[in-house]
Amino acid sequence: MPTILAIETSCDETAAAIYRPTEGVLSSVLFSQTKLHEKFGGVVPEIASRSHLEKIHFIVGQALQEAGVTLKDLDAVAITNRPGLPGSLLVGLCFGKALAWSNKIPVIGVHHIEGHIFSSMIENTIPFPHLCLTASGGHTSLYRVNGYGDFTTLGTTRDDAAGEAFDKIAKLMELPYPGGPVIEQLARSVNFGDFFSYPRTKDPHTLDFSFSGLKTAVLYDLVARGAYDLAHKRFLATHDEDLKKKVASSLLVCIGDIFVTHLERAYRNNPDVQAVTFVGGVACNQYLRDRIGEWAKTKNISLFFPAPRYCTDNAAMIAFVGSYMLEQGKTDSYTLDIQHRT
Ligand code: KG4
Ligand code: ZN
Repeated sequence: MPTILAIETSCDETAAAIYRPTEGVLSSVLFSQTKLHEKFGGVVPEIASRSHLEKIHFIVGQALQEAGVTLKDLDAVAITNRPGLPGSLLVGLCFGKALAWSNKIPVIGVHHIEGHIFSSMIENTIPFPHLCLTASGGHTSLYRVNGYGDFTTLGTTRDDAAGEAFDKIAKLMELPYPGGPVIEQLARSVNFGDFFSYPRTKDPHTLDFSFSGLKTAVLYDLVARGAYDLAHKRFLATHDEDLKKKVASSLLVCIGDIFVTHLERAYRNNPDVQAVTFVGGVACNQYLRDRIGEWAKTKNISLFFPAPRYCTDNAAMIAFVGSYMLEQGKTDSYTLDIQHRT
């Protein structure tokens, strides 16, 4: 049975994993750079690529060691080569290609989002076709998944991703980065009420998402409440915990409504789907999982999601995709390059 090493460095996590189809994930190791970027309220590309360079050797070594595997045991190296930050992608690609070349084994370039789409299948058997809602800091898309590596895009974000909306609104209110977990925590403390009824974009002709308008709506609502000084870009309600909770909760409920509306419309056009999956960093959110789970129940289909460690960026999902790509004969040559936009 083939043994796959996967490397993921597309954004701010340096990750490596070892996977065997019969045994599953043997190791999944990760260094998160969150602390390095925290004070900037978002990922700084130059800092990200430098940190990947410092960590990659250690992280790959750790993945091999934890799995009890040596370089000689590897059959292929799967590497996230698109999309992502160019400097970050390059670190993983060069390291992975060098390892593969020196061991004379194939490289497999993996699309980061394909990794997320199949992340729920690492530990679950999920029937095809199914719907997949991917929501992270960089992407929010809806797919119809027909088989391994076979999926079509039903809708995607036209501007900001859902996770980005959480991060940017958290930043507006001087809350820590990443915003998603803290927004969820604040929203829970007020029982997920919808206090401010932020606008739900509803264009019946598309399954695309748009979250930048929502961010602007929250900003102007804060300005109208005297809680934000637009001229000096300053939050004026630092000590108003009640307001922060209400904003967080209204935002979360709004995004939950948008997700459910999109799933409902996608289902109408794809009534043969057998299940729905919810993946990506935002899928860590229990409230959103519950909302989607309730919706799935009304359609008599099951909801699947990855374990939290496979929701946020990780290399196990890249290894899983690399494994079926190897089986399908979809390997690349050592001239494999990055594609930072796709
Ligand atoms: O998948 P991921 O680790 O990285 C990207 O590929 O972007 O997702 C990170 C995103 C961040 O925007 C973060 O705010 C969001 O996932 N996130 C959450 C939660 N935990 C992480 N969003 C909502 N609720 C959460 N509990
Ligand atoms: Zn991701």
